[in-house]
Amino acid sequence: MIVSMIVAMGPKREIGNNNKLLWHISEDLKNFKKITSGRAIVMGRKTFESIGKPLPDRVNIVLTRDESFSLPGVFTINDPMMAFEVALDYEDEEDSELMVIGGEEVFKLYMPFVQKIYLSEVEYSGPADAFFPELLGEWKTLESTQFESFKFRVLERV
Ligand SMILES: NC(=O)c1ccc[n+]([C@@H]2O[C@H](COP(=O)([O-])OP(=O)(O)OC[C@H]3O[C@@H](n4cnc5c(N)ncnc54)[C@H](OP(=O)(O)O)[C@@H]3O)[C@@H](O)[C@H]2O)c1
Repeated sequence: MIVSMIVAMGPKREIGNNNKLLWHISEDLKNFKKITSGRAIVMGRKTFESIGKPLPDRVNIVLTRDESFSLPGVFTINDPMMAFEVALDYEDEEDSELMVIGGEEVFKLYMPFVQKIYLSEVEYSGPADAFFPELLGEWKTLESTQFESFKFRVLERV
């Protein structure tokens, strides 16, 4: 199984403010849907609340310390390592890719395990209180596409 992250960040690594995204870019959302569909996605409880519902066609895993957190269509985990087990239950081991979708706390937690990052770099200059952590280790760019309002790159750990 590989562990990947998918994130859209501003020039100062901004990803959110007041538990909301900083922009609405339909091309980026389409890209997000295409990349994550059919996969297991893991997110923090705050990101889940910000989205407000499980995302269709994906195995939704929500990380929280609240042992009573339970919602239809969501796998709740209290230990970050449990995400690997849940993902393996639903995906073919050969082709499985656990997608870490945020937010800041959750990106930090899984950073040591991540091998691939789907990164959208967005022009932004405004307030933010959540940031994408600095990458650990060495990375190479596998793919790069310039969209109208953001640049999309796929990075792989060297
Ligand atoms: N631009 C992007 O690509 C992108 C993507 C995703 C999110 N975001 C933004 O990021 C922001 C949210 O990020 P955030 O860092 O505030 O929150 P978060 O990472 O979404 O969720 C944090 C929560 O995860 C749970 N958690 C964290 N570590 C844990 C551990 N070791 N064990 C068990 N549970 C743990 C806790 O839930 P409990 O408090 O319930 O215990 C914690 O409050 C929002 O603004 C959102 O819009 C942006």
